[in-house]
Parts: sequence; C-alpha cells; structure tokens
Amino acid sequence: MKTLILFSTRDGQTREIASYLASELKELGVYADVVNLNRTPEIEWAKYDRVVIGASIRYGHFHPALESFVKKHLQTLNTLPSAFYSVNLVARKPEKSSPQTNSYTRKFLLSSPWKPDHCAVFAGALRYPRYRWYDRFMIRLIMKMTGGETNTSQEVVYTDWQQVAHFAREIAQLKSKTPV
Ligand SMILES: Cc1cc2nc3c(=O)[nH]c(=O)nc-3n(C[C@H](O)[C@H](O)[C@H](O)COP(=O)(O)O)c2cc1C
Repeated sequence: MKTLILFSTRDGQTREIASYLASELKELGVYADVVNLNRTPEIEWAKYDRVVIGASIRYGHFHPALESFVKKHLQTLNTLPSAFYSVNLVARKPEKSSPQTNSYTRKFLLSSPWKPDHCAVFAGALRYPRYRWYDRFMIRLIMKMTGGETNTSQEVVYTDWQQVAHFAREIAQLKSKTPV
C-alpha cells in the first residue's frame, strides 16, 4: 500500500513540498505517489492506505478545486488516515505558522467536512521575477506593509525543510482508522 500526496499549486512551491515529503517518507520506508489535485485525477483509492493534501493560498483563498475535491471524495478522506498542509507567506512569521494561528488554515479546518488527523502550515516562496506585473505590485505592497522582502529582483524560499521532514515523520506514524 502507498501514501497518496495531492497538491494544489499555482507557482510550484506546494508541489516542491509534496515531492520533499515523498522523498522523506521513502527514507522511512513509506512509498508515495505525488499527484496534482487541480487536474482532478481519477484516483484508484484501493492502492492507498493514507492520504495527504497540500494547498497554497492566493489572495486569501485556497484554489476552489480543493473544496470540490474534498466534497467529491469526502467519505474516503474521512475513512483513510489523512493529513493536510497549507502553504502561504503569512506563515513566515512564527506567530502565524500553526494551524490555530494561521487564519487561512484555521478557517479551512473549521469549515471543512474533512477532518484530517494531522495538519501543518508551511511558509511558501516569494518569487517576484516570475509574477505578472499586477501580482508583483500587489505582493510587494503586502510585503512592504508586513515588513517582508521588497526587492523585486529577489526569489526567497521561506519554507523550513526541517519542519517538512518532521511532518513526514508524523505522516509515517498515522494509524489505520478501521479496526481489523
Ligand atoms: C498573486 C499571489 C497572491 C498571494 N496571496 C497570498 C495571501 O493572500 N496570503 C499569503 O499568506 N500568501 C499569499 N501569497 C503567497 C503564496 O501563498 C506563496 O507564494 C506560496 O509559496 C505559493 O505556493 P504555490 O507556489 O504552491 O502556489 C500569494 C502569492 C501570489 C503570487
């Protein structure tokens, strides 16, 4: 049996975290498939004994595909051992980096009918040169207001890979929910 890691990304950081999780899990003897949730794949659930979903924030929201996916696969998601991680820039601040203190994640967990067993919040990446001018302008404004990087020639990765490795260890320890 394998672990399914689904990611919803706009600029690639959530996919990078998914791949990192998969390689950390492999070190622990847990094999994972990494799949793009936004491409609404048909999933062979019988192959998997746990599931992880990761999603990033853009202008205050997760991609709408996250909600549709959760709705469509709710029963399976609530049956399998599962974990969720969110990726955003607010989480670069330690006081906004836990599922309880990161407002996007807290709101998601409160309103979601899917109740993951584990949850993590990771700081994402700031990649000015890759953004369209409007996004670059808006993100720079937000960074200016919140004391972040404002040099638009910069790419900064805030993700704490040790924290991701720790999350992988938690995922590896998830226990089956159905009694045998
Ligand atoms: C256009 C745009 C809007 C964003 N809006 C937010 C936001 O509202 N709050 C936040 O914390 N981070 C925001 N971010 C930061 C992203 O969440 C961060 O860059 C993350 O790494 C993106 O992950 P992804 O590459 O997997 O999509 C935004 C980034 C972009 C480019």
